[in-house]
Amino acid sequence: MSIYKKFATVYDQMDADLHSKIMVPYCKKIFKKFSIKAKTGLDLCCGTGSAIVELEKLGINMSGLDQSATMLAVAAKKTKKLKVPLYQKSLPTFRLLDKKESTKTVQFDLVTSFYDSLNYMLTEKDLEKSFEAVHKHLNKDGWFIFDMNTPLALKTIWDEQIYAGTNSSVAWVWKNEYDQKEKKATCHATFFKKKGKLWERFDETHHEQAYNNTTIQKILKSSGFVIKGFYDCYTFDKATRSSYRICAVVQKK
Ligand SMILES: C[S@@+](CC[C@H](N)C(=O)[O-])C[C@H]1O[C@@H](n2cnc3c(N)ncnc32)[C@H](O)[C@@H]1O
Repeated sequence: MSIYKKFATVYDQMDADLHSKIMVPYCKKIFKKFSIKAKTGLDLCCGTGSAIVELEKLGINMSGLDQSATMLAVAAKKTKKLKVPLYQKSLPTFRLLDKKESTKTVQFDLVTSFYDSLNYMLTEKDLEKSFEAVHKHLNKDGWFIFDMNTPLALKTIWDEQIYAGTNSSVAWVWKNEYDQKEKKATCHATFFKKKGKLWERFDETHHEQAYNNTTIQKILKSSGFVIKGFYDCYTFDKATRSSYRICAVVQKK
C-alpha cells in the first residue's frame, strides 16, 4: 500500500489529526452514557497517535495499530513517554500476540477507530473480516467505537470537489471523485512540503468505500457484536440517510 507514507510527515501540520482529538471528548460522553470503564484500549488505524495521547489522559492503557510505518513513527515520537505498544499491521486480518513467541491473542476492553479509517476497507468482505478481527481482540463485554463516512458524505463532500490549503510548511491540492453506483470515492492528493528554500512534491491516491447504515449494522451483528448505539456522529441522535458520518458503539456478545 503506498498511502500515508510521506503524507505522515505533514499530517499533523495540516491539522488532519484534529478529528480524532474531537472524537475523544465525544467518547468520554459515550463512556458515561454506557458506563464503560475501559482499562485497556487499542486504537485501530491510529495514524499519528493523537487519539492515543488523549485516551491515555482518561486513564486507559492504550496500544496502537496502523499499516503505515511512517504514521507509526510519528505516533512513536508523540507517545514516547507513555510507552505505548505500536503494531505495524494491516487490516482486514490482523492478530496481535501478547508477547514474542506467545500464541495468545492480546485482548482489550476497548477498540476505537477514527476518521474514516474503516472506509479504507473496500469490500463488505474486508469490512467483515476487520470486525471479526476486532471481536477476537476484545475481552468479553468489550466495546468497539468507530466512525465512518456515509454514502451521502462521499457524494457531497468528495464528488468532483477540489480542496486546497496552505500554511508555512505545506501546501496541498486534493481532487476528489465519487462513483455513486459503486459507492467508492477516490482522492488524488498532491502535497508540497517545504524543504529549505525548495518545495518537495509528492502524490498519493486514496480510495474510500461507503456502506449503507443497514449494511454496516448487518455486518456488525454477523461478526458477533450487539449494537448499543448507531449515531449521527458527535451526537446521540440516531444515524439516518442524511447523516454524513456515523459513530457506532457496539459491544462484544
Ligand atoms: C484518515 S487516517 C486516520 C488516522 C487516525 N485514526 C486519525 O484519526 O487521525 C487513516 C489511517 O488508516 C490507516 N490505514 C488505512 N488502511 C489500513 C489498513 N488496511 N490497515 C491498517 N491501517 C490502515 C492509514 O495508514 C492511516 O493512518
